[in-house]
Amino acid sequence: MQRLTCRHISKKYEGKAYALKDVNFSVPAKGIFALIGRNGAGKTTLIRILATQLTPTSGAASIDDLDVMKDAPRLRDTIACVPQEARAINWLTPRQFIFSYLLWRGFGYSKASKRTTDTAKKLGIEKYMDMASRKLSGGMKRKVLVATVMASEADIIFLDEPTTGLDPLSRAELWETLVKLKEDHFIFLTTHYLEEAEKLADMIGILDGGKLMALGTLDQLRGKVKYPYSVKVLDKSNVEKPEVGDMITGVDGIKQIVTTEKQARKIAKQLIDKGVRFSISPLSLDDIFYYIVKKPIEEENYDDEKEWS
Ligand SMILES: Nc1ncnc2c1ncn2[C@@H]1O[C@H](COP(=O)(O)OP(=O)(O)OP(=O)(O)O)[C@@H](O)[C@H]1O
Ligand SMILES: [Mg+2]
Repeated sequence: MQRLTCRHISKKYEGKAYALKDVNFSVPAKGIFALIGRNGAGKTTLIRILATQLTPTSGAASIDDLDVMKDAPRLRDTIACVPQEARAINWLTPRQFIFSYLLWRGFGYSKASKRTTDTAKKLGIEKYMDMASRKLSGGMKRKVLVATVMASEADIIFLDEPTTGLDPLSRAELWETLVKLKEDHFIFLTTHYLEEAEKLADMIGILDGGKLMALGTLDQLRGKVKYPYSVKVLDKSNVEKPEVGDMITGVDGIKQIVTTEKQARKIAKQLIDKGVRFSISPLSLDDIFYYIVKKPIEEENYDDEKEWS
């Protein structure tokens, strides 16, 4: 069953080039979908369209067979969104903030109060619930926002860069929260931390220049890249371009050979003989992303409508 479907979505802001170009894909019902892409790739634009906040220039999208434009009022009961720039209101405590959000969504007083308390317990944030939000750390504030959407009855949650700006520990804590959240919600998130997408996402989409460049599980993405193995040359030794594969120089100046598994093993043997320091592994999402946005993968993989189940 497909939970969310985009059919040829394009979006052009007034006086600007297209922010989204013919985005066409479906995502199944469960887990976490992570949309990754450079600044300006169109991630927020797509989230806003799916969360019924923005009208596309052309194309259509549906969630649970409800059209995001025609059925927006009905859909809003089942979705909740934490926008990229969202902040908890400073002069409210988390309890007041979550409670007011639930009232605004139409819950009665006693149900809103109970859901607020239960969610705080579930996320282990009870001790912060009555502190002024302005006194909370950035990580706690983000957690409060996630708690807010979690407390609602929405079972589809959009989170636009929920962990941006968090230190590694706070980020890991929020990851735990998201793993709990995905037990009974479908989460659509965007992130610039590819490790986050790699760890959390059941499915990943790569957006670049408004186009969906790739979609699939990590393994499926790896399978779509021409060369799924990586040999990174860790010192400044001179290495030649392999017979099969490509050589990429990262922004850090590190040379990386992407190639087949067989060729990678052969190169590894040669590097050992030469005493060159290197690492060898299947491509990480970082590598895949770099490869895909720098160098389009074989066109034939992307002719059809993208659909996974
Ligand atoms: N309200 C707007 N009016 C005009 N152009 C916009 C507007 N919002 C976004 N854009 C443009 O649309 C493109 C996509 O922007 P969008 O915010 O969707 O990207 P993003 O992938 O979310 O980027 P980031 O990673 O920086 O958040 C950019 O070129 C941006 O300048
Ligand atoms: Mg954005």
